[in-house]
Amino acid sequence: MNKPTPLAGPKGGYFSGSVVSFRRDQLGFYEASFRDYGDVVETKMGPYRTLLLYHPDAIEELLVTRNRDFVKSPGIQLLRPLLGDGLLLSEGDTWLRQRRLVQPAFHRQRVAGYGEVMAAFAERHVAGWKDGAEIEVYAEMMAVTQAIVGKTLFDAEVSDRDAHGVAESARVLAEDFAARLGSVTARFIPAWMPTPSNIRSRRAIGRVDSVVNRIIAERRASGEDRGDLLSMLLQAQDADDGTRMTARQVRDEVMTLFLAGHETTAVTLAWTFYLLARHPEADARLAAELGAVLGGRAPAVADLPRLAYAGMVVTEAMRLYPPAYGLGRQATRATELAGQPVGAGDIIITPTWVVHRDPRWFDEPLAFRPERWAGDLAQRLPRFAYFPFGGGPRQCIGNAFAQMEAVLILAAIAQRYRLTLTPGQRVKPTPYVTLRPEPGIRVRLTRRGCRR
Ligand code: HEM
Repeated sequence: MNKPTPLAGPKGGYFSGSVVSFRRDQLGFYEASFRDYGDVVETKMGPYRTLLLYHPDAIEELLVTRNRDFVKSPGIQLLRPLLGDGLLLSEGDTWLRQRRLVQPAFHRQRVAGYGEVMAAFAERHVAGWKDGAEIEVYAEMMAVTQAIVGKTLFDAEVSDRDAHGVAESARVLAEDFAARLGSVTARFIPAWMPTPSNIRSRRAIGRVDSVVNRIIAERRASGEDRGDLLSMLLQAQDADDGTRMTARQVRDEVMTLFLAGHETTAVTLAWTFYLLARHPEADARLAAELGAVLGGRAPAVADLPRLAYAGMVVTEAMRLYPPAYGLGRQATRATELAGQPVGAGDIIITPTWVVHRDPRWFDEPLAFRPERWAGDLAQRLPRFAYFPFGGGPRQCIGNAFAQMEAVLILAAIAQRYRLTLTPGQRVKPTPYVTLRPEPGIRVRLTRRGCRR
């Protein structure tokens, strides 16, 4: 096949392509590429021809219509030493079998059943807070969401100490991930080579592994079938009907669900509180709704239909700060997108960060306005103008879980406390695996008057 005529886009260096601009400021690079070149942008990332897709229809083609022509990109594959062949990174028959096995744990009714744990854990956590205290809200949210995913999916206790160790390891691994992603050469250094960064990463993986392996070992030793996801996975390990999973596959799946199942939600909540702190009018409206619906008692799943504004707050926070700020794929064969030829090996990126801030779909796109979701906006938008959970067959399996969890935690906290930013902070959205607030979000807690 002849080489396709290049589309418009940043050329960058001869060998590195756009990797240098990408490393310097990934979000700025995505914004500038869209502003300067439009909906489909061609560039090079090291050896790879790379297309950036900004139009919802082209993104739909990538994730839905032509998803069979693509696999996860080499960028996200950098997480393989940590996540192995779990749901996020596996492909083909292995992925399909695992997805079918895990899916029942995420059926609507099952998820509704987790609501009680979510609300109870949020209440328990906030009970330890004090009026006037200062906290770092991202770390707090990591602890709550880890404890929730551990309990709901694996019926395991994840202590604050475990949570702290995992969060610290996740930070080391996220930094390492970002450094490799933004380097032409580092990503080709094999994981077994004893470089300082490999040693650091291996140690961090070891710490997370010890938590995950303990969760698995305790259940195995108990021999109990608790009818939850972990029991389902262990039964599959013992199956003799051709669907058997190895111990390594069980570990990879538990690790993937444990990590994918908490950091994204913690990031969402951290940004939610940041936005509320900067928009007192939205915060007051939320407090009024919580007061009217809950009147001081703990939130429950049955309250969710009446916590409409809380839902909109979370939806709007994920629009402005999508935890998965861009999705990456690689073509496995020659195909096309938006009428443009795509060759085998080409990389495709959907910069969600930019799509969610596109004025063609959102009025005043940079404004935090939860009430924009009150009417029929969600129905009017093109399907992939707002896609914090991705779409198509690889859509987030924890979508309903995460939305319910975020609203219940938000409700439990926000009806008790107002969070205000401590002065002099500059919080920067930093694209690691997820879009983290750096260097964290420091807030002061003020107890709301209505709960005396
Ligand atoms: C606000 C929270 C969350 C966000 C924004 C989010 C976002 C995403 C996105 C965008 C994808 C698709 C990635 C791609 O197409 O390349 C994904 C996949 C996935 N997510 Fe989530 N997620 C969240 C919460 C969760 C939770 C709570 C769980 C589990 C308890 C979870 C487990 C997974 C798994 C296993 C996959 C891979 C699914 C597959 O490929 O079959 N996520 N997530």
